[in-house]
Amino acid sequence: MKKPFSVVLLIFLTLSCSRRPEGRYLILPVREANDEIVLTIEKGGETLYIADIRLALPGQEADYCVPMDLEHFGAGRRDVRFTGIDDKTAWSLISFSDTLPSVPADKYRPKYHHTPEYGWMNDANGLFFKDGVYHLYYQYNPYAAVWGNMHWGHSVSTDLVHWEHKPVAIYRDDYGHIFSGSTVVDYNNTAGFGKGAVVAFYSSWNTAREYVQTQCIAYSLDDGLTFTKYDGNPVLVPFDGIKDFRDPKVFRYEPEDKWIMIVSADKEMRFYTSQNLRDWEYMSAWGEGYGVQPRQFECPDFFQLTTAQGETKWVMIVNVNPGCYFGGSATQYFVGDFDGRTFTCDSPKETVKWLDWGKDHYATVCFSNTGDRVIAVPWMSNWQYGAIVPTRYYRSANAVPRELGLFKDGDEFYVSACPVPELSKLDKESRTVSGITAVAGKSQNVKLFDRTDGAYRLDMEINVPASGKAGWRFTNAAGDVVDMYFDTALGRFVMDRSRSGMVDFGNRSTTHEIENHDRRKTMSMNYVNDFALATWAPVKVAGKHSVCILYDLSSFEVFIDGGKVAMTNLVFPKEPYTDMEVYSDKGRFVIDRLRITAQGL
Ligand code: FRU
Repeated sequence: MKKPFSVVLLIFLTLSCSRRPEGRYLILPVREANDEIVLTIEKGGETLYIADIRLALPGQEADYCVPMDLEHFGAGRRDVRFTGIDDKTAWSLISFSDTLPSVPADKYRPKYHHTPEYGWMNDANGLFFKDGVYHLYYQYNPYAAVWGNMHWGHSVSTDLVHWEHKPVAIYRDDYGHIFSGSTVVDYNNTAGFGKGAVVAFYSSWNTAREYVQTQCIAYSLDDGLTFTKYDGNPVLVPFDGIKDFRDPKVFRYEPEDKWIMIVSADKEMRFYTSQNLRDWEYMSAWGEGYGVQPRQFECPDFFQLTTAQGETKWVMIVNVNPGCYFGGSATQYFVGDFDGRTFTCDSPKETVKWLDWGKDHYATVCFSNTGDRVIAVPWMSNWQYGAIVPTRYYRSANAVPRELGLFKDGDEFYVSACPVPELSKLDKESRTVSGITAVAGKSQNVKLFDRTDGAYRLDMEINVPASGKAGWRFTNAAGDVVDMYFDTALGRFVMDRSRSGMVDFGNRSTTHEIENHDRRKTMSMNYVNDFALATWAPVKVAGKHSVCILYDLSSFEVFIDGGKVAMTNLVFPKEPYTDMEVYSDKGRFVIDRLRITAQGL
C-alpha cells in the first residue's frame, strides 16, 4: 500500500498522548473490549455528529489510540458532549494534537492488498470508475478495529493495484449509520445534482427510527471526494413488514433509458425503477427460496456477461451471512434473463453456485462504469471471526480485484473469477522450475524464496493422477503448514489451513450450528474452531489444470483453470511460508511448469 495519506492523517499514541487544551484532532485511547460511550458534536443546538467510542478507562492500558478530526465539523472542545461517562473523566483520558504520525507496523498487514490505514473495514461499497480513476469505498469504523460507526472510507487507484487512502467520504450522521450501497455517475444530470455528479446510494441504519433501514442518497460534485447528503432522504422505505432492507445497487438500464435499484429485502431482492434517481417505483421481487438463505440476503449486484461463444446472460450476485458451506458468510450467484422489470433464473431453486469456495470472500460487488469489463472486489474476511483476527491497528483487507467471466458447462452457465491482468505490475524477480514429479512416498521440496518477504505469485501447469491425493504443502521453519491438494475419490480441490499458524482465536467454547447447503437446512455440526479447517471445491480432478496462487503474508487466493474455481482463505503463519512440498500418495503427480514471481508494489 502506498501511504502518502498516513503522513497527514493520524496519530496512534500507544503510550501517552500529548496534553494540549485544544487542537485539530481528538486523540482517543481505545480499549476494544470496553462498552461503547457516545460522543456527540453539537453546535447551535444542532447535532452534527454522533460516534460510539470504546474509551480505555482510568487505569486501563489502551490497545491503541485513534484520531477524530474536529476541524471537519468546524468544532472545538466546547462542542463535544459525552453520554455514559462524566466530562471530567472523559477529558482526563482524551488529548489533542495538530500533527499526526503514522500507524505502527502490523505483522500481518498484506504487502499489496488494499487495507484501511487503521480501524475496521468490511464490505466494499460504491465502486466506480471515472476519468481513469477507480474509486473504492468501504464500510469503515475509524474509531476501533471492530465493527461500529459505519462510514464510507475511501481509496483511489489508477491501476487497481496501487491504492491511495483518501479522507472519509460519507460520515455517519444523525439519521444513522451509513451502510453498504453503490454509486453511479450521472452524466446527463437526471437527478439535478449536476452534470457528471457521482451519486451514492446507501442504507441508513438507525434502531431508534420507525424504519430501521431505509435507502438514502448523497452526491458528489468533486469526483467522489466529498459528498452532500440529499435533503429529501430517505428516498425509499420498506413495505410488507420487511425487516432487513438494505445495500442498494443502482444501475442504468439502457434499453429503456431508466435507472434500476435492487435492494436486498429479507430473503429476496426487490427491483425499483426511477427516471431521476430520487423517486423510486417498485417493479418486482426475485429470490424467495433460491439458493442458500438461512437468513437475509445482502449486498446484491447485477450485470451482464457474455461467453467466449457470444451468449449473453444476466448475473445476480447474492451475498449471504450465514450461509457459507464452511460457516459464516459467502457469495453466491444466479444466472438468468432480465426483461427490464423481472429477473428469471435459469436454474432450479435448489441450485447453488459460489463465486469463491474459500471462507474469506464476502460482500463482493463490482465497479460501475467500466464498460464491458466486470470487475469485482471482495471483502477478504468472514463475519464469524472478522473482528478477532490477530491484526491490531486495522482489521480486514480486500481480496484482489477480479475480472468476472461467463462459461458454460453442459447446459449450465457459470461465472469465473480471475485476478485482473493489471496485477502483473506487482511482478518482481521471477524464475521457472520445470518437471517437478512426486510419486507415492517421494515428495519434492521447492524453495520458494530465501528472503522471506512474504508475497509471491505461483503460476503452475499441473497433471493430476487418476487416483489418490496429490498436491503441495506450504511450509515454514516454524512448522506451520497450509495443505492444498486434489482428492480424486471425492472429486475435490482442498485447502486445509488447520495447522497454518495462529488459529486459536477461532476457538468456540461450544459446538454450534452451521447450515448444510447440500440439503439447504441447518444441522448441528461437531466443530469447535471456525478458522482451523479445510475448505473445498468440486472439480474434475484427473488430468491437466492451470493453477494461479497469490500469497500475501496473511492470505492465499487460488484460481484454477482460468478462475473456474476460486478459493480465498486467510492464514496467520508465525512467519511467512518459504517452501512448497509437492506430494502424491498414489499416482504420479507432475508440475510441468512452475513460475515463481516475487510480488511487491
Ligand atoms: C454485509 C453487511 C451489509 C450491511 C453492512 C453493515 O456485510 O451486513 O448488509 O450494509 O454489512 O456494515
